[in-house]
Amino acid sequence: MSYVITGNPGVGKHTISKELSKLVSLPMADLNKIAQDFGLFEKNDETNDVDVEKLAKIIQEKFSKPSIFVGHLAPYVLPSNKIKKVIVLRKNPYDLIKIYEERGYSKNKIKDNLGSEVLGVIFHDAVNQFGAEKTVQIDVSTKNISETIKKVMDSFKGEINTEQVDWLSIVSEKNDLKEFFAY
Ligand SMILES: Nc1ncnc2c1ncn2[C@@H]1O[C@H](COP(=O)(O)OP(=O)(O)OP(=O)(O)O)[C@@H](O)[C@H]1O
Ligand SMILES: [Mg+2]
Repeated sequence: MSYVITGNPGVGKHTISKELSKLVSLPMADLNKIAQDFGLFEKNDETNDVDVEKLAKIIQEKFSKPSIFVGHLAPYVLPSNKIKKVIVLRKNPYDLIKIYEERGYSKNKIKDNLGSEVLGVIFHDAVNQFGAEKTVQIDVSTKNISETIKKVMDSFKGEINTEQVDWLSIVSEKNDLKEFFAY
């Protein structure tokens, strides 16, 4: 059985997965890289849209051995029956703004990704695809990298429950909704 590390850009998926791959002796399967290697990116303004149906098919055919699948596309391309545990990394949107600006993302791309994080879209879609019993969300904002890895390993062993994450209340209390949603 395989594991999944997912979440919005910049939450720390690759940083954590590189370590996990060694700890659990499973190869890392980077969903974005697979999409790129098989030419599934469709350039659209500044975003790379991926043909998720084709990606799902390629993963089923060519990536069937147990792995740590990494990427924000996981809920849209992986079959639940091959997956043991799904970790959704969450990060405080105010911390993500800095990472996105450092990466030179455009205003639209920043708002799209921040809006998704504030609403917990990927966690919601992961629970839909893989089920609540397999899906655990972890807030990395309050943890360093080794604390995050420990928490993920405990989740793999089924020793901890999903964390409560509610950025929407924090953002609306600060009256910052317009910062995170284009309207
Ligand atoms: N507790 C933590 N867990 C993971 N990463 C952290 C943590 N604290 C800080 N980081 C930092 O967050 C930054 C973003 O991490 P990373 O590049 O791994 O994100 P990502 O989810 O792989 O992004 P992308 O989807 O764009 O590939 C890195 O600079 C990383 O060191
Ligand atoms: Mg990354």
